[in-house]
Amino acid sequence: MSYSIEHIKNMVHPTKIHRTIYTDPELYQLEMERIFEKTWIYVGHESQVANPGDYLTMNIGRRPAIMVRDSKSNEIHVLHNQCTHRGAKVAGKTCGNARAFRCCYHGWTFKTDGKIIGMPHKTGYDGTDISVDNPDLNLKAIRSENYRGFVFANLCDDGPDLEGFLGDAATSIDNMIDRSPDGELEIAGGVLRYRHKCNWKFFVDNLNDTMHPMVTHQSVDDACQAYMDELPEGVTRSKESEIISPFGSSYKMFDDMGVSVGHNGHAYTGGKTSIHSSYSEIPGYLDAMHANYGVEKTEEILSINRHNTIYYPSLTIKGAIQAIRIVRPIAVDETEIETWTFRLKGAPDKMLQRTMLYSRLINSPSSMVGADDLEAYVRLQEGLSSGGSEWVDMSRFVDREQHKEGNMIRAIGTSDISLRNQYQAWLEYMSASKDEQEVA
Ligand code: FES
Repeated sequence: MSYSIEHIKNMVHPTKIHRTIYTDPELYQLEMERIFEKTWIYVGHESQVANPGDYLTMNIGRRPAIMVRDSKSNEIHVLHNQCTHRGAKVAGKTCGNARAFRCCYHGWTFKTDGKIIGMPHKTGYDGTDISVDNPDLNLKAIRSENYRGFVFANLCDDGPDLEGFLGDAATSIDNMIDRSPDGELEIAGGVLRYRHKCNWKFFVDNLNDTMHPMVTHQSVDDACQAYMDELPEGVTRSKESEIISPFGSSYKMFDDMGVSVGHNGHAYTGGKTSIHSSYSEIPGYLDAMHANYGVEKTEEILSINRHNTIYYPSLTIKGAIQAIRIVRPIAVDETEIETWTFRLKGAPDKMLQRTMLYSRLINSPSSMVGADDLEAYVRLQEGLSSGGSEWVDMSRFVDREQHKEGNMIRAIGTSDISLRNQYQAWLEYMSASKDEQEVA
């Protein structure tokens, strides 16, 4: 099948979208071309390449890329991970440290800024443009920008700069950084990386879906509640139950939490309260914050309590728990999600321990909560592959309970406004292509 722009527009209505948006392999390829390879995609945090020569590899859409700290200038570059000889990936590992990248196939070698510096047995290229002096043979650079340590790359040279892309939603990154007594974050605690057998959008859709926790996570909440009910008087409840129990909160709690949406599909749930609001204090943390910010500023920082922020389409953050999840689509029905945790510099170690506990409990493959979500995603993928019902609803609280807050729109927490906002962005990306409208 070929998709015209008109056809794509007919798939996204104000309050419903067509099921094949999640299931058609051809549409998936168009999404890679028109969304993931046309806008700002998160590649990594600068602390992951702290030392000269440190590098990290990832895919931007379908394109292999390297984020590397220049071994000479200390700048961070994002480069195509593709040898300019015959195209092999020059960096084969997910991360490491290199003085230079030497291609494993014929040994062409590139500096960490991408410049070609060597090719074995150079004879035989007389009369050709194959030479280490030819800049066309350097690893190709990808447009990249760093927002307060968060590095994004964009395969398209046109369009807004990174700050313009993030808009007011950048305040969630600001707040996560401000929660560090030293005003700095660093990645710590390793990565949880695992594949979901579903389309990438189910994961993104779910982040601000506040109508599912009390149903999807009911069994784990029941178990948690039973544990708390049986606790002998005077015994402090475990940190695990403190993290899990808010997932069984009432509809009213999620209504009151609120949701804000901005341009480009970005959004966050929470505001002054979220499911993270009732965590107990970590000894020493407030003292460290007061010492660096003073009491008033500390209160201001900690009064912002957001749940999930989506930087559509590739990054989601939990500022109040200092964790991020990265969306890496693999196929129409397969998605890799990476969870990374941050250390708040200047904060007690127990802050990082709680962040890691949260990720294990909620986000890991053996999680008690995330596994419920995964079950729902797989059922959605399988259910929507049938033609029983053609449309996916997102009409809750349409045009109601909404007001402007800066450049974002605020709504009641269980509104579907975040979904509507994402699919408006999806439609804009998918129908704004300068490419041929028909795809063979
Ligand atoms: Fe890299 Fe030949 S493909 S050196």
